[in-house]
Amino acid sequence: MGREVVIGSDHGGYELKEYIKEYLVDSGYSVKDFGTYNSNPVDYPDIAKELGEYVVEKNLEGILICGAGIGMSIAANKITGIRAALCYNNYIAKLSKLHNHANILCLGGRLIGKELAKEIVDVWLNTGFSKEERHMRRIGKIE
Ligand code: RB5
Repeated sequence: MGREVVIGSDHGGYELKEYIKEYLVDSGYSVKDFGTYNSNPVDYPDIAKELGEYVVEKNLEGILICGAGIGMSIAANKITGIRAALCYNNYIAKLSKLHNHANILCLGGRLIGKELAKEIVDVWLNTGFSKEERHMRRIGKIE
């Protein structure tokens, strides 16, 4: 079984979620999907809460997608232990891991293209947390 990644979206991120999920499965990841499962309107905080709590409990990494990425990031960051980062290019995806130890990647399904999203996901999943003292200290001050 491959490395576990969890993914979720609202209706605004549904199409991109399905695309990224298929890409991750094809790449050998074990993907747990927290919905939504079609394009009918749902409330993004419900998905963010369920997935975020699971990420904290299991110490995993997750991807949340809504239309703009903003709602998911605001909602997920309310959960203790979650550091959700809305990323729109490869460089910020890398920094969100190295410097901010992001454990959830948020994407704006209506704002970025599929190919860019795929690259961001790749960079994000393949970058680790920097253990440099200054970053550890700053992360420690968040909670
Ligand atoms: C839904 O229309 C939209 O508001 C939602 O997907 C997201 O963009 C919120 O931040």
